[in-house]
Amino acid sequence: MNKITVTQPYLPPLEEFLPYLQEIWDSKTLTNGGPMHQRLEKELCERLGVQHISLFANGTLALVTALQALRVTGEVITTPFSFVAGAHSLLWNGIKPVFVDIDPVTLNLDPARIEAAITPQTTAIMPVHCYGNPCAMEAIQRIADNYNLRVIYDAAHAFGVRQRGESILNAGDLSIMSFHATKVFNTFEGGAIVSPDAKTKQRIDHLKNFGFVDEVTVVAAGINGKMSEVNAAFGLLQLQHVDRAIARRREIDTLYRRLLRGVPGITCVEPTGQDEPNCAYFPILVDEHFPMSRDALYAQMREQDVFARRYFYPLISSFSMYRGLPSAASDNLPVATRLSNQVICLPIYPAMTDEDVARVAAVVTAAESCALV
Ligand SMILES: Cc1ncc(COP(=O)(O)O)c(C=O)c1O
Repeated sequence: MNKITVTQPYLPPLEEFLPYLQEIWDSKTLTNGGPMHQRLEKELCERLGVQHISLFANGTLALVTALQALRVTGEVITTPFSFVAGAHSLLWNGIKPVFVDIDPVTLNLDPARIEAAITPQTTAIMPVHCYGNPCAMEAIQRIADNYNLRVIYDAAHAFGVRQRGESILNAGDLSIMSFHATKVFNTFEGGAIVSPDAKTKQRIDHLKNFGFVDEVTVVAAGINGKMSEVNAAFGLLQLQHVDRAIARRREIDTLYRRLLRGVPGITCVEPTGQDEPNCAYFPILVDEHFPMSRDALYAQMREQDVFARRYFYPLISSFSMYRGLPSAASDNLPVATRLSNQVICLPIYPAMTDEDVARVAAVVTAAESCALV
């Protein structure tokens, strides 16, 4: 039996990539904002419905740089139910993360709990559009405006997501994206910052290039965050395929929901607030009505060569560099703690066949029927 992993990167036919490589070989420009880089920034702005994009080597450097661009310091309110890169980017900037619990429906930062976590040291909120589901952007902005806080959205999961026709990447002060191999749109490794105006983009572009403004002027202790021409070229090719890739993800999502409907103890997390879900992930929650624990189901899947993942378990707040923080205590994070112990993300990727989907669903339903015997 073939191994089914939680994701498999989308790769267009290799022969379609060769002309792009030929162009790079001809231009001999490998990086530093070359022609592929410029074209990808432009085409992504058009595809995503945003004004300004700065490409990065990965999403983590984009996060680190976004915080620097806005000169964020002190404390930042964020979610524990996400990938560690978010909180790590705070530590890299000498900022203290303050974890706030999540909403049980959206699995995003619960806006009703944010105000209580604000102190005189708070300078920003860093929410995550988890699984591509938009955060409560209006409520978060109201709080940010009242307390004069910056908002940096981690939109690593939210490629192409719109709400009421508008790109969610335009919310807040900045949004960051990841184009990692596991994402809906990948450039092998890659990332971006979406900024609202040309001046902010320019500052970010300086910061991602060591702080260079021109040959002899360095205005900040910037980093090397640049995306190479090969990655940018790959992104240009991926853009031609991404709509089809998302359409296939939607078919898989629909099939899973049909096959898992009515299984006691299994809840398929609903996409909320996306005009057209990008189906970046397929999270299910395993509760006490299921005959075995989440971890037992996870292990059973592995035995049958189905490599699902428990995103996001453990919570970021439980890692050693965070667990000593007062906000990391599990009684401060009851919803995130519960859901982190219930969640499994089932495999979903464009090359997955209907038979693969049926095989994954069958492991779940077999566990259910075994218990009935
Ligand atoms: C929510 C979230 N934020 C940030 C990142 C970091 O992005 P990258 O891997 O491109 O550095 C990821 C995933 O990789 C992620 O899932």
